[in-house]
Amino acid sequence: MNYIKYMKRAISNADAFKFTAKPNPVVGALLIKDNQIISQGEHEIFGSCHAEINAIAKAKKELGKTFNSFDELTLICTLEPCSHHGKTGPCSDAIIKAGIKKVVIGSKDPNPLVSGKGIKKLIDNGVMVEFDICANEVKKQNKHFFFKHENKKPYIAVKIASSADGKSHKKNGERIFITSNESREDVQILRADYDSILTGGNTLLADNPQMNARVKFPVNQAKKILLSNKDNISYDYKFFQEADVEIIKERNIHKIVSQIQKSPINSILVEAGPKLVNAFLISNLVDEVIIYKSPNKVGDDGVNWFDEETTVENFGFTLESSYKIESDIKQIYKKC
Ligand SMILES: NC(=O)c1ccc[n+]([C@@H]2O[C@H](COP(=O)([O-])OP(=O)(O)OC[C@H]3O[C@@H](n4cnc5c(N)ncnc54)[C@H](OP(=O)(O)O)[C@@H]3O)[C@@H](O)[C@H]2O)c1
Repeated sequence: MNYIKYMKRAISNADAFKFTAKPNPVVGALLIKDNQIISQGEHEIFGSCHAEINAIAKAKKELGKTFNSFDELTLICTLEPCSHHGKTGPCSDAIIKAGIKKVVIGSKDPNPLVSGKGIKKLIDNGVMVEFDICANEVKKQNKHFFFKHENKKPYIAVKIASSADGKSHKKNGERIFITSNESREDVQILRADYDSILTGGNTLLADNPQMNARVKFPVNQAKKILLSNKDNISYDYKFFQEADVEIIKERNIHKIVSQIQKSPINSILVEAGPKLVNAFLISNLVDEVIIYKSPNKVGDDGVNWFDEETTVENFGFTLESSYKIESDIKQIYKKC
């Protein structure tokens, strides 16, 4: 049987939950009998039931109506069913317990601690398994999740707002908006895509930023990470309000990133001033730089993003796309 059209359907169903399931991958599942879809389930919200469990629960309501026993059904699942106890029980156990005898999987789980174990458990319990059906689409859909496991580091993007003359902010600390309202709206959507937002103590004190995704759709908000050794930081800053915040006192960027790698976070959006942004770029751990560039100059009382001689290209990045947002230009650079 050709399962591609069902796998594409499950992938498309899962897509609706990409902002609420994160930092978990989005997963879709279908239970089919011959060419009929009996039930569809997705992993909707981080910490809630996985897609396979939802599909099985919905199918139970059809038992005795459209099918008589779970061994008549094939489970289509975009990602390898888990075999470990996370926030919910192992999906492979639930599949075996339900009596499903055939499972078709989009992609293996890229996490080396998990990969192949779910498949092995199913096979060891007499379930027929096929995998690598539309695997590339599944990888593309969960690009930060796959990136983290394949590269053994989270995906790191740095976002900066720059004036036409390359400035970040004013030397005297006077608060100014570098870019337009429309660019700042775009940043809200950008934040929604990341598992964590990271900034430095100086930015916190200077700007009192919220750094959450203020968007018109539901989002599991990013974890906020503050890098600072300052001991006078008050929890009254907006950054701490209704947020999961971690303060890291370490200064070595490689150690900081290794520490974050051990958590469920797959991606980091760095939103800081020139000191921390340059420290990240020098560390060679950044994968993408996003620049919102204004046509307006700040002048001599502004602080430069980079040294006179330095450009983003010097750090090994190439311009991948560039387009206008009102009067500003958004430039996306990727590592060569
Ligand atoms: N235009 C923009 O897009 C934009 C974005 C964000 C901020 N800003 C502006 O940037 C200004 C602050 O910039 P900044 O350059 O002074 O500070 P920054 O880059 O925001 O912060 C440096 C902070 O990072 C911490 N840190 C931890 N590890 C570090 C490392 N390896 N290297 C450097 N710092 C490390 C420092 O800790 P300690 O606290 O222990 O020193 C310090 O608080 C603010 O005025 C803000 O308005 C502009």
